[in-house]
Amino acid sequence: MKILSTKEMLKRAQKEGYAVPAFNIHNLETLQVVVDTANELKSPVILAGTPSTLVYAGGDYIVSMAEVASKKYDIPIAIHLDHYEDVEDIKHYIDLGFKSTMIDGSHLSYEDNINIVKDVVDYAHRFDATVEAELGRLGGQEDDLVVDEKDAMYTNPAQAKEFVDKTGIDSLAIAIGTAHGLYKGEARLDFDRLKEIREAVDVPLVLHGASDVPDYLVKKAISLGICKVNIATDLKIPFSDALKKYFSENPKSNDPRKYMAPAKESMKKVVAHKIEVCGSKNRY
Ligand code: 13P
Repeated sequence: MKILSTKEMLKRAQKEGYAVPAFNIHNLETLQVVVDTANELKSPVILAGTPSTLVYAGGDYIVSMAEVASKKYDIPIAIHLDHYEDVEDIKHYIDLGFKSTMIDGSHLSYEDNINIVKDVVDYAHRFDATVEAELGRLGGQEDDLVVDEKDAMYTNPAQAKEFVDKTGIDSLAIAIGTAHGLYKGEARLDFDRLKEIREAVDVPLVLHGASDVPDYLVKKAISLGICKVNIATDLKIPFSDALKKYFSENPKSNDPRKYMAPAKESMKKVVAHKIEVCGSKNRY
């Protein structure tokens, strides 16, 4: 298979009532863990990279690694630009081979958000790439993107319909109480709002900030119409914790092939678990 957009995979998820997991990856090892595990469980999968990840790893390396994975495995694989705010950056990465992008104009006024999203939709659709946009605003931290709790804002269902109609986006990221990173208490999700948004718009809905949210809440959100679940922090923690443990037990170690192994193994368990929670196993 070749690298896909998220169009068909999210449409099918929406129709059949599950979600496709979008895992944030950072390098060869994290990408390998995600695609290998998704392949074992026969799950469609989205590899997401934030702006700082693509600067760090190189967009061309990410595209090439994803191409290798999509030739090797017959599961649907998409690579997705996560939380991009710069239109020129997005165009550059679409030219490089990304078939899915988020344009995050959630910090802008409603009108400016619509305008920037339309710009990206016009460009992306010429290359069969799909576009996700965010209405409302999530709190918390996702790499370089930091949003104070007081600036977080829930999605308005009526506005969501107008936003989708005016922009022509393929999927909508909504703010219903999740936040990027870890929570202070248990996450509280506004399911009534989710239901209203689901009734108002017909595009697939995206849940950002799914780390540290109890499984039963994520499953309920999926049952009410979420079709893409974004996970970053819950993967970073086990990976780095396993590395720290390995080095504390093997202070003289200097072989990446040895110290990366337990980190990959720890992350793999979480990836497999999230695929189960999303209900995307065997949906390839
Ligand atoms: P978490 O780090 O909370 O999992 O959020 C991930 C995310 O929403 C990426 O866009």
